[in-house]
Amino acid sequence: MEYLYYLYPIRTYLIVAGTLEKPNPMTADWVVPLSRKPPLLGVAIAHTRYTKKLIDEQKDFVVAVPTMELLKDVWIAGTVSGAKKDKKELMSVTFIESKSVKAPSIKECAANLECRVVQEVVTGDHTFFVGEIVNVSYGDAFPNKPDIANFRFILHVGGKDFTDTGNETIQP
Ligand SMILES: Cc1cc2nc3c(=O)[nH]c(=O)nc-3n(C[C@H](O)[C@H](O)[C@H](O)COP(=O)(O)O)c2cc1C
Repeated sequence: MEYLYYLYPIRTYLIVAGTLEKPNPMTADWVVPLSRKPPLLGVAIAHTRYTKKLIDEQKDFVVAVPTMELLKDVWIAGTVSGAKKDKKELMSVTFIESKSVKAPSIKECAANLECRVVQEVVTGDHTFFVGEIVNVSYGDAFPNKPDIANFRFILHVGGKDFTDTGNETIQP
């Protein structure tokens, strides 16, 4: 049953696994906040992904927040597997050391949430990794609230179609 059409559009992120020397970024829509104290988030990663293997080994990852300027790179990270190619060579982003995990951050992203795996749940064809956020680095798009007037966060509509978060807020 294809229920996903009813849930989209969903925000799009980059999950970075591996090390600064051998980073592997993967595009992911299925990212969800789970707890404030402690700060936990979950990401569902298909068993077939190279990223799953890397996170299983190293038990950490970074959720990087891309904006529309990075859409071409987001598409590469979401269509090429690190098992076959070195995505670092194909993408134009800069990997930088994270503060509290081995997985690197991405300089051009609006924020990088450094996560340590605290739980893993097998959910059908995906594994849901629960990460504790041990450090966050961010640029001008935060921290008080997301600056949607100046930063175009990526929303995935479906397939190859994306849109941005717009620059208008509406109050109830
Ligand atoms: C916009 C977009 C969103 C995606 N979201 C997810 C996701 O949430 N979970 C997942 O397992 N794969 C997702 N994918 C697919 C992976 O990013 C893709 O299979 C990637 O090539 C895996 O790379 P890896 O083998 O190096 O880990 C998404 C792809 C795109 C283009």
